[in-house]
Amino acid sequence: MNQVLSLKSSKTLHQLNLLRYKNAGNPSEQAYFQHQRKQADAPDPGLQRAWFNSMRIVLEEIDQVLRCVPEIMPFRFLDLGCCPGGFSSYMLEKNPYAVGVGISLPVERGGHACLLEEDHLSRFELHWADLTQYQLGPAAIADPRLQNIPFIPGFDLVVIDGHPLRCATGLAHNDVHLHGDRLLISQIIVGLVSVAVGGTVILKQSKPERLITAQLMFLLDVLCADIHTWKPVSMHSTRSTFYVVGKGFRLGCQAMRWNQILDGLMNLWVQLSYAGHGGKGRRLFRTDLDFIVNDKTLKTAYAPRLHQLSEHIWITQSKSLQGWRSAQAEGF
Ligand SMILES: C[S@@+](CC[C@H](N)C(=O)[O-])C[C@H]1O[C@@H](n2cnc3c(N)ncnc32)[C@H](O)[C@@H]1O
Repeated sequence: MNQVLSLKSSKTLHQLNLLRYKNAGNPSEQAYFQHQRKQADAPDPGLQRAWFNSMRIVLEEIDQVLRCVPEIMPFRFLDLGCCPGGFSSYMLEKNPYAVGVGISLPVERGGHACLLEEDHLSRFELHWADLTQYQLGPAAIADPRLQNIPFIPGFDLVVIDGHPLRCATGLAHNDVHLHGDRLLISQIIVGLVSVAVGGTVILKQSKPERLITAQLMFLLDVLCADIHTWKPVSMHSTRSTFYVVGKGFRLGCQAMRWNQILDGLMNLWVQLSYAGHGGKGRRLFRTDLDFIVNDKTLKTAYAPRLHQLSEHIWITQSKSLQGWRSAQAEGF
């Protein structure tokens, strides 16, 4: 669901869009992205190791700016879509008292391998599972594929970083977009029911100007005491992805809405999983997250805050794209 909010007043976003779509149909650019997609679909061990190291650096970058991983105190984290394991590795390395739980798609179903260091494995419990296949509805559903969430909630920090993979197999359906929508809502439910009151949530998102992204930013903004955004520069700096970090979960100005919002997310999960053709689920509709906030409020009352959280993300991506385009023009 790629509906974009018309945030016309942002010059930065306008310039970024010019950069994003300049040369989009150019054969050399298309060949470059096709090559990247091919590598991402079947990464060799060297590339997997490089991703692992880069993910470690990404969390280090976020932590240096936003201080989310404590150094010397008991700390329990949940890492959703955790493999290859860079984020978990960073947290276990930084804090010797940290213990973590991770969930990631099994390798035999196309998921990434776990590259976590031997030394860290004793403090990490890894569940190989499909995040879309837990009981996440408002009532138990008689579907033998669904399991109960396999851990006790109350985590100090939850990372929500699962990403739909084109090569994943054994999914409820083969459409990667359908799976992507279901994965997004599934991991948000798992993440938010698992984080402690007062805990921290790190959520990966793309394009703050997208309606659904803005709705999820609003969600964390009103449920958490404090949120910030960060666009990493050490990896994927030319892409539209960024992280939202919410601290003080359920201590925000609309924390009293939590039960109603959770109910809305769970009902939506049932729709995404079982509605539609043959009961195989459906894609997200434009109005699906209106129970959180509608686009009118995002474009009016919330617009200044959305700009404040987004401007530096657009600037960072623009600068990276400018650098990339110059390098491309000179033949790298
Ligand atoms: C961007 S990577 C996460 C990287 C990770 N944060 C790190 O630090 O190394 C996305 C992960 O989501 C996992 N994934 C994709 N679909 C999934 C699903 N349905 N259930 C669980 N994990 C999934 C992939 O296997 C992949 O490991």
